[in-house]
Amino acid sequence: MNYFQYKDGVLCAEGVRLDVLAQKVGTPFYCYSSATLERHYKVFSGALPAGSLIAFSVKANGNLAVLKTLARLGAGADVVSGGELAKALAAGIPASKIVFSGVGKTRDEMRAALNAGIHQFNVESEPELVALNEVALAAGTRAPITLRVNPDVDAKTHAKITTGTAETKFGIPFAHAREVYAHAAALKGIEIVGVDVHIGSQLTDLEPFETAFKRVGELIVQLRADGHAITRLDLGGGLGVPYQHDNSPPPDPAAYGAMVTRVTRDFGCQLSFEPGRLIAANAGVLVSSVIYVKRGDAKTFLIIDAGMNDLIRPAMYDAHHEIAAVMEPAAGSPRPKYDVVGPVCETSDLFAADRALPELKSGDLVAILSAGAYGAVMAGDYNARPRAPEVLVAGEQWGIVRPRESHADLIAKDRIPDWLAG
Ligand code: LLP
Repeated sequence: MNYFQYKDGVLCAEGVRLDVLAQKVGTPFYCYSSATLERHYKVFSGALPAGSLIAFSVKANGNLAVLKTLARLGAGADVVSGGELAKALAAGIPASKIVFSGVGKTRDEMRAALNAGIHQFNVESEPELVALNEVALAAGTRAPITLRVNPDVDAKTHAKITTGTAETKFGIPFAHAREVYAHAAALKGIEIVGVDVHIGSQLTDLEPFETAFKRVGELIVQLRADGHAITRLDLGGGLGVPYQHDNSPPPDPAAYGAMVTRVTRDFGCQLSFEPGRLIAANAGVLVSSVIYVKRGDAKTFLIIDAGMNDLIRPAMYDAHHEIAAVMEPAAGSPRPKYDVVGPVCETSDLFAADRALPELKSGDLVAILSAGAYGAVMAGDYNARPRAPEVLVAGEQWGIVRPRESHADLIAKDRIPDWLAG
């Protein structure tokens, strides 16, 4: 359920018309709905055992205003870089609710997180453990850690976003978990607090989660028998969202929560979760205008002013995003097929192939739906295309929460070395 609906023939974000926003801020632009973010957060938290920590995965949407909206509801943050840590703290998320994930944490990033006093580090390898121990000892402190274990479960999702099988770079292979915990226990700068698992993203089936969580439960029993104090269990993110209206929807948060509650009931751990997409994807759209309708021999191309630099998911993962005309088409009006493409000089700059859409012409507005997660955060300025602005709506109110880049901004990023100056 989200708050992007047609009202009086115009697609709106809550109480704000997207055509009016387009006039005010220009296109393309991202638009997020506060009510949708809040609803997703509340539905998810309401489905989980009481006392669970919900650490929003900042990589999905790192806009400060989005983070602040979630922080007000009590969200923590899952960060994977010093930059995300800084943004989470700047948005008012308390350090005590921040978990630090990722395979390549640098010593500088570890120091910053220790200084801030974060909840825990989710450690992904032995070399990282050794480095963190040294950094913590040098700072005269101990780093609270979980080890991210890799349960070798196929998440049955897109190959580029699966992380829980034996061949990935993520986590510690299950078979080595006990020896790495023993190593951790011998390090004076390390305090073992729990176990972490994350098997992939956009999972549309609960079964891989359940298999993974049960395996982790067995590991917890062994680790406690080995003498480790395991009090926390981080179950990662990954629950899928509906991207395609006519597909059967992924399991809802209530079903996920019921499964988690049943499986982890006797684990004796405080649970944490790292949802990203579930909270943000359907809370955002990318609004774009049609530049040209180009009729080829075999296809009609809808050339729009958003490109793969703005939203890379279709090009990178063959991801499906629904596309809606901002002006509601009359019932029963024709729906010709278009290839919806951007202006970027790449064949893969394709948002949708052979997509049936209402008849559209130059200047018409379209909204690419489900773009609130892994949208703006993955944007770049390829083809010297200034990054699109982000707008947050709350009821009738709206605000630009990241301004559009200008050509001057782009030029100002580069420097001319002395020998070329003058
Ligand atoms: N925790 C960890 C350790 C992760 O690696 C991820 C996502 C999450 C949590 C959040 O997963 P979510 O709840 O959002 O599924 N750019 C890709 C998705 C990459 C996901 C990377 N890790 C996409 O656009 O589909």
